[in-house]
Amino acid sequence: MVFYIVNLILSPHVENTKFYLIIKIIFVSNFPSIFIHSLDISLALHYNAFIMCGIVGCIGTKKAKPILLDGLRRLEYRGYDSAGLAVWDGQTVNLAKTKGRVADLAELVREQALAGTVGIAHTRWATHGEPSAKNAHPQTDEDKNVFVVHNGIVENYKPLKQKLEQLGHCFQSETDTEVLAHLVEHFLKQGADLEHAVKQALRRVRGTYAVLVMAASEPDTLIAARFSSPLRIGMADGQIIVASDPSAILSHTTQVITLSDGEVATINRGGYTITNITNDEVINKDVDAIEWDVSAINKGAFEHFMLKEIFEQPETLQNSFRGRLDPESGLAVLGGLESVAEQLRRIKRIHIVACGTAYHAGLIGEYMLEEYAGIPVEVGIGSEFRYRNAVLDPENDVVLVISQSGETADTLAAVREAKEKGVLSLGIVNVVGSTIAQETKAGVYNHAGPEIGVASTKVFVSQLAVLALLTIFLGRQRQMSLVVGKRIAQALAALPEQIQAILNQSEAIKKMARAYSGYKDFFYLGRKYNFPIAIEGALKLKEITYRHAEGGPSGELKHGPLAMIDESFPTVFICPQDSVYDKNVSNMEEVRARHGRIIAVATEGNGEVKSLAQDVIYIPKTLEMLTPILSVVPLQLFAYHMARELGLDIDKPRNIAKSATVE
Ligand code: AGP
Repeated sequence: MVFYIVNLILSPHVENTKFYLIIKIIFVSNFPSIFIHSLDISLALHYNAFIMCGIVGCIGTKKAKPILLDGLRRLEYRGYDSAGLAVWDGQTVNLAKTKGRVADLAELVREQALAGTVGIAHTRWATHGEPSAKNAHPQTDEDKNVFVVHNGIVENYKPLKQKLEQLGHCFQSETDTEVLAHLVEHFLKQGADLEHAVKQALRRVRGTYAVLVMAASEPDTLIAARFSSPLRIGMADGQIIVASDPSAILSHTTQVITLSDGEVATINRGGYTITNITNDEVINKDVDAIEWDVSAINKGAFEHFMLKEIFEQPETLQNSFRGRLDPESGLAVLGGLESVAEQLRRIKRIHIVACGTAYHAGLIGEYMLEEYAGIPVEVGIGSEFRYRNAVLDPENDVVLVISQSGETADTLAAVREAKEKGVLSLGIVNVVGSTIAQETKAGVYNHAGPEIGVASTKVFVSQLAVLALLTIFLGRQRQMSLVVGKRIAQALAALPEQIQAILNQSEAIKKMARAYSGYKDFFYLGRKYNFPIAIEGALKLKEITYRHAEGGPSGELKHGPLAMIDESFPTVFICPQDSVYDKNVSNMEEVRARHGRIIAVATEGNGEVKSLAQDVIYIPKTLEMLTPILSVVPLQLFAYHMARELGLDIDKPRNIAKSATVE
């Protein structure tokens, strides 16, 4: 409720509502304006948006085009589904945008002089509006006077867009960002200069942003502003560079200042001035020296994208939950399913179809949805489902596909099979505007940001989180009580911090991986919710260390695989304190009796397990249905550290690719 009220204060465009005026008296009479802003900051930071795009701008004596293109190349790891730039050439602002990579943009402008020395550019990771030239940034107003590049999400873009359309503005794109261009133009036309037009526009935004704005009407000025998305400014030899992260600045200077939330930089050829967005107070910033080496910087401080993505998982979960999880009401808000919500109320069976790691997520979804939503579920592997002639009932069934890339051919085939048989198809997809996202009737985006490492980690955890949200969504349509819904929602909200506690054990797991790097064969075993984690953990090890690893249900041990166990064949048991823990203990005894070494993933405080396993990795306690989101993290780190010990190409393992777009 406080969040909602705070937003009314910061959105003067609703000045004439009685509710707003009452709240204004309450808040402004008791708190300085900065309090309101800081409260908004804290609330926004709580939902820290980890949306990734690359922003770069420059003004000075050198030609802008090469600086902008080089900057985008260094930022492309942040997002790469479309790109664009705008350069003032002394007469007009030249705009060039394209779907695809930065290389496609460079090819598009190769023949264009673009002689100007001031410009802005952007490489996009789509959140609103599929990847296309139209939706690429810079976004502009209809007069092509204002040009905006943006990293973040304007959560309240729909009401702002409606208000602007009522004022006669015409929109071209499906993006949230375009609203900013029209808002700035609106205030310019009311007589504000570019700095104050941008400030007035941003004060009406709820969400997160790093923005760079230029205008044909004030061509020698760039305005930069940030709120919960990074933005830095470097200055050297009269050249000023603004970028999302230092990698685009480092080749010009190592001296940068970092904008803080609520700060606005007014940049021109003589330098820059930083002021507070609410009261124009001038702010003096310290200049920081960057020590990072450019080649590594795209991975931040991490040696590999896979490790970076493992460590991003707390933010990834927050981003997947943002605007969707309400622990107070015990509800999950999944806007992408609104159009089919009533049909989902009536379904009687779910067919989950996916491949690889996404299939393992589906197996866990089966346990969640059957136990908590009471809906029968069957899970199929894409490459089998497409040839199986599955029995699908258009009245009662739904096909739910899960795919990080949204391009996996075998999974896409399941979508088309569902459509052929008149069955509703839904997707849980990470890449906005991907083929599967376009061809399914409805769905839920992961909002996990680009996953560069071939071995899927953060998106897998996001898939499990979205499946848990879907379980609440469907369960509360049925017999799930408010109490149970709240319990699951509250446990989900606690997961980011709990994952961080596991990540803090990375060095200990690194030592363990080194100790086991000589073994050639591994068994991974788990039960119920953690049986699929056993398969997923085995896959992680296989695909980046190339060692043989077999995952399966602990209960199957005695039906044959136990014959393999001896001192040369370690077993990883995923055995949290859950409803089948005692059964896992029996299985661990069976392995010990054959002199098999055991690595156990167990719940914090479980002392007994130390007498059963040579090595133990502890995870925090959570609901049984959510233990996979925690138990997979040690297995990701174990695989990563072993592959690093073996000196292998972790981000690009041999023989496999990030997305299997062919059969
Ligand atoms: C997982 O680490 C692998 N990269 C692979 O199994 C992957 O999960 C599978 O190819 C499915 O890809 P998708 O999620 O993009 O459809």
